[in-house]
Amino acid sequence: MADEAPGDLTTRRPTPEDHRRVLAVLDDWWGGFQREHGSARRRSLLPRLYFQHFADSSFLVERDGRLVAFLIGFVSQSRPDVGYIHFVGVDPAARRTGIAASLYRRFFQHVAARGCRQVTCITTPGNRLSVAFHTGIGFAISPGDTVIDGVSAHSDYDGPGLPCVVFTRALDDFLDPAPDPVGVDR
Ligand SMILES: CC(C)(COP(=O)(O)OP(=O)(O)OC[C@H]1O[C@@H](n2cnc3c(N)ncnc32)[C@H](O)[C@@H]1OP(=O)(O)O)[C@@H](O)C(=O)NCCC(=O)NCCS
Repeated sequence: MADEAPGDLTTRRPTPEDHRRVLAVLDDWWGGFQREHGSARRRSLLPRLYFQHFADSSFLVERDGRLVAFLIGFVSQSRPDVGYIHFVGVDPAARRTGIAASLYRRFFQHVAARGCRQVTCITTPGNRLSVAFHTGIGFAISPGDTVIDGVSAHSDYDGPGLPCVVFTRALDDFLDPAPDPVGVDR
């Protein structure tokens, strides 16, 4: 089921057929961040299963059939009060227009309605856009054991040599069942 959004953007749930399209934009949208190593890691972090088994809590934005943004997220199986955002990306040509913030609000509403009280996500230290975005929309950085590029990080978080910045945000402002006052459609 797709929603027509203002500004000729359409938001819908992803399908397995979208997997290849999303993989195809990763290097461009991430600006080649961390070169070959980053490229391989991004692809390995987005296997097809996310488009098969996590689609109900994920979103994809298109304009005239062209991919503009995506968000892959889910309710934690182990901590049902936590929503987890695994991946988000916006076409560089469409950035700073509120698309990612809008997708996050959709996700917040979706998981809050299913009992979540908090959302968490991680990013690679040095991803300045991701840090600016998450802190810009109200995420707090969970204090780690090291500082990388001026940001507190958890060393070896995802394995040896794979530090991460960890973000959390309470959903207090999304627990009211009233419609989102700022609107989720962009
Ligand atoms: C991070 C990303 C998803 C943000 O998408 P976006 O649609 O441009 O973000 P929004 O327009 O919704 O920004 C919301 C707020 O975040 C902050 N923000 C976003 N991008 C920023 C930037 N480049 N510099 C400073 N603040 C920024 C601002 O507070 C912004 O609000 P404002 O524009 O009113 O000032 C996008 O830059 C992206 O796809 N980056 C590459 C992929 C990536 O790193 N994904 C995250 C890790 S999985």
